[in-house]
Amino acid sequence: MLSLRNVHLSYGATPVLNGIDLSVRRGHAVSIIGPSGSGKSTILRCINGLLTPQYGDIYVDGIDVRAQTTDAQKIALRKRIGFVFQQYNLFPHLNVLDNLTLAPTSVLGRSRAEAEHDAHALLAKVRLADKARAYPGALSGGQQQRVAIARALAMRPDLILFDEVTSALDPETVGEVLNVIGELADEGQTCVLVTHEMRFAEDVSDEVFFTEGGVIIEHGPARQVFSDPANERTRLFLQRARGEDRHSVRRRAAG
Ligand SMILES: Nc1ncnc2c1ncn2[C@@H]1O[C@H](COP(=O)(O)OP(=O)(O)OP(=O)(O)O)[C@@H](O)[C@H]1O
Ligand SMILES: [Mg+2]
Repeated sequence: MLSLRNVHLSYGATPVLNGIDLSVRRGHAVSIIGPSGSGKSTILRCINGLLTPQYGDIYVDGIDVRAQTTDAQKIALRKRIGFVFQQYNLFPHLNVLDNLTLAPTSVLGRSRAEAEHDAHALLAKVRLADKARAYPGALSGGQQQRVAIARALAMRPDLILFDEVTSALDPETVGEVLNVIGELADEGQTCVLVTHEMRFAEDVSDEVFFTEGGVIIEHGPARQVFSDPANERTRLFLQRARGEDRHSVRRRAAG
């Protein structure tokens, strides 16, 4: 579904990605973990074509991402790849239903009726069926983030990228968002997760990639990387991260 081969990217003279190899099979959930500044968000931006690496190959479902150079090609690519960020950026002047139907009707050309039907089903999935007419300002951070996830799903993407989607949330609402992502992964939605929630990453991921200094230091099945990392750097990082991650996150809240 997704493959990166020897991807190099510099900002000016500063190398940020120094040969990233990463692949994700259809239906798998993969986590990227690693210290701040190690290039995790940069990898996600390369995958959806927001950034173009100077060297290396990126393929999404057979599409050569670096060859998508026109605006039309880039828009076509981003229709297939959902991206959910720390900042949910819902349209404040639109209610939840309209936030969910805007892109499907205007970008994909779906009928209003079909888009609304989809939106209600997605709101039920993220456990916000009663909030269709609410405005974002009247929702908690965790609720807004679940709307943002539903909005990404409304495009029926082949792949979803999640970049630290719980980092800005109150601790009480983190669990409800992680539960939703965990269910999507269980249902076979292909996704790449950048997260600092180590227990969640361990629980939900088929495979884990550990980045440091713009390279993948270690990758493997989640159980193996978390229980018996091969690399000393990974071991130290996990030790430190677990010290900060005292709560059980995925089942922390029922939503
Ligand atoms: N627009 C930019 N111009 C110059 N350098 C940048 C730019 N964006 C990111 N960087 C640098 O690239 C490196 C990787 O950044 P990136 O955001 O990918 O890290 P990250 O692993 O996502 O970190 P975090 O966990 O803090 O989100 C950092 O050293 C950062 O300072
Ligand atoms: Mg980041």
